[in-house]
Formats: sequence, structure tokens, C-alpha cells
Amino acid sequence: MESTEKIFVAGHRGLVGSAITRELERQGFGNLLLQSRAEVDLTDKAAVLEFFERERPVHVFLAAAKVGGIVANDTYPADFIRENLEIQTNIIDAAYRVGVKRLLFLGSSCIYPKLCPQPIKEEYLLTGPLEPTNRAYALAKIAGIEMCWSYNRQYGTQFLAAMPTNLYGPNDNFDLKNSHVLPALIRKAAEAKATGQKSITVWGSGTPRRELLYSDDLAQACIFLMNLPDAEFNRLLNSEEPPLINIGTGEDLTIRELAELVCKVVGFPGELVLDPTRPDGTPRKLMDVSRINALGWKAQTTLEDGIRRVYETVKDLFVASPA
Ligand SMILES: NC(=O)c1ccc[n+]([C@@H]2O[C@H](COP(=O)([O-])OP(=O)(O)OC[C@H]3O[C@@H](n4cnc5c(N)ncnc54)[C@H](OP(=O)(O)O)[C@@H]3O)[C@@H](O)[C@H]2O)c1
Repeated sequence: MESTEKIFVAGHRGLVGSAITRELERQGFGNLLLQSRAEVDLTDKAAVLEFFERERPVHVFLAAAKVGGIVANDTYPADFIRENLEIQTNIIDAAYRVGVKRLLFLGSSCIYPKLCPQPIKEEYLLTGPLEPTNRAYALAKIAGIEMCWSYNRQYGTQFLAAMPTNLYGPNDNFDLKNSHVLPALIRKAAEAKATGQKSITVWGSGTPRRELLYSDDLAQACIFLMNLPDAEFNRLLNSEEPPLINIGTGEDLTIRELAELVCKVVGFPGELVLDPTRPDGTPRKLMDVSRINALGWKAQTTLEDGIRRVYETVKDLFVASPA
């Protein structure tokens, strides 16, 4: 990517899109196309095509999606499959039509079978049943990968799909009703510290293992991939296997260890009380990141540093209402 070329970041206000935008700006890419939903509703096929024809972006980061936790996915599966299929189909097709050079489609590790071997290699795609609670979402994402692959095969496009592990970072969702485990733990520990509580509750047995990637590291990985020389980029886009690459740290820890680390960063000296009546979820979900590591990219931010940076951005917010 040249610093003057027009780059469209779809979903630039989200956790992933905002991190990619920040990192592109930091690296001196000065011609970014950023559109709010009010300006271009990405589920509107005609509006998306009109936008691409008018603006003619050279590169596209596709980080717009309808995203949610287990409850939202389970309650609104029709919305999740429809909106995600619409957004990605409209953008991938419009990108092909106006001759976009490279496109990076963001998916997630939920595309892989629920019970696949660990760590999860790219080749495990479509080798077993999916987790039922977010099957509609996962199938939309799998269709997006297949669409990138099909367009590459039929039209010679350069569209790649990146599958990040669980993410965290600034602009995360800290609402205890539907947030992910790490922001929930940060909030609980911060409020417990502020109100002098003796303990915080951690859902489940504390034994499931999770991998967490800082959103700025993901952004660096996405830009690294989009900047690969043609020979290396095109090796990821062969006709034998889907154009797919995992992004993660390659390391995981138990929920209990994660909670202990959060308490250390926040400075909450109290106890952890495990609540085994709450669901544990998958016992382990760790990405195999040897493909991206072999290309020369490795996550840089340690979990402790990442948690500290996130905590700095929110520590003044969570003092009033104890969890
Ligand atoms: N968060 C994670 O832990 C995680 C992990 C792995 C992969 N991912 C993947 O990364 C991608 C982005 O996730 P995220 O966490 O950044 O989600 P997010 O924070 O919810 O952001 C999604 C973005 O998409 C935009 N968007 C949604 N529907 C739109 C529409 N119809 N028209 C225009 N814009 C629309 C949203 O706009 P508004 O601001 O207007 O709502 C928002 O900016 C997803 O594909 C997800 O699967 C996320």
C-alpha cells in the first residue's frame, strides 16, 4: 500500500476498524475513506456500489459486521446471518467491480468447529460441527471466506480473509450484561477496589483457557498482511486452500489466571470467588499462528501491558456502581 492511495476502512468506529484506522494514521497513510452508517448503510447494495464507483478505493479493510455476544447471537440469528451476508457480499462484489487491488476480510475464530484440535490450524475449517449458539454468524463469515476464494479464482482478485482470536482494547464493551470476559473482569475489579469490596465473582470454574490479542496488535497484523510483497501475498491465495490466515498470540491462560492478572493491574487486593453455576463455554480455544509468524509477524503487546493500557482509559469511569 502506498501512503497516498485511497484506503477504505469499513466499520471504522468499531473495536477492530478504529484500531486499524489509528494504526494506518500512525504509519502515515493519509488518504483514508471513513464513512458512518448514516452516510453509507453497508447492507444497501446500491448505496455501496455507488460509493465504490464514486470513490474508487485502492485497498479495503472489511471490518464492518453485526457483532454480538452469545445472548444476542442466540436471540437474533436471522439478523446476524442476513446483515453479515449483505455487508460482506456488497463490499466484496463492489471491490471486484471497481478493481480494488487488495481486500482484507475480517472474520473470527468461531468459524472453526466447536471441538477441533488445539491449537486451531487454518486447515480445520469445515471439518466438523460449529458451536450452535453462533452458527448463523459463523456461517455468514464462512460464506465470506468462500466468496473471497471464489472471486480470486474466477476474477483473479487479491482478497484475503483474516481470522483473529478474541480481542480486547480501547473502545471495548464494558456493559456487564453482554461484554466479553476481560472487560467484565476489569470493570468488576475496578468497582470492587473503588468501593472497598472484599471479593469479586468470576463466572464458571476458572479452568477454561483463552487467548487474547490486543486490538492494536491486530491492526498491525492486518496492515502487515496488506503490505506483503506480491509473491508472499499470492502464496496465501492459491487455488488449493481457502485464502485464510489466523491472527493471535499463540499463547493462552486460564480464566482464573486472567482474573488474577486483572486484579494485579487494577490493584484490587481482594479474593476471587468462582461461580460454578455459570457456564464455562469451550474448554480451550487457541489459534495456531505459525502461518503468520512464518511470514514475519508476531504479536508485541504482553497481556499485562495491554490490560494496563485498557485500564488507563476506563479507570475513572467505574467507581460508582459496584458489580
Ligand atoms: N471483537 C472481537 O473480539 C473480535 C474477535 C475476532 C474477530 N472480530 C471480527 O472483527 C470484525 C469487527 O468486529 P468489532 O469487534 O470491531 O465489531 P464492532 O465494534 O461492533 O464494530 C462493527 C462496525 O461495523 C459497523 N457496521 C455494522 N453494520 C453496519 C452497516 N449496516 N452499515 C455501516 N456500518 C456498519 C458498525 O457501525 P456503527 O458504529 O454505526 O455501529 C461498527 O463500526 C467482525 O467481523 C468480527 O467478527 C472481532
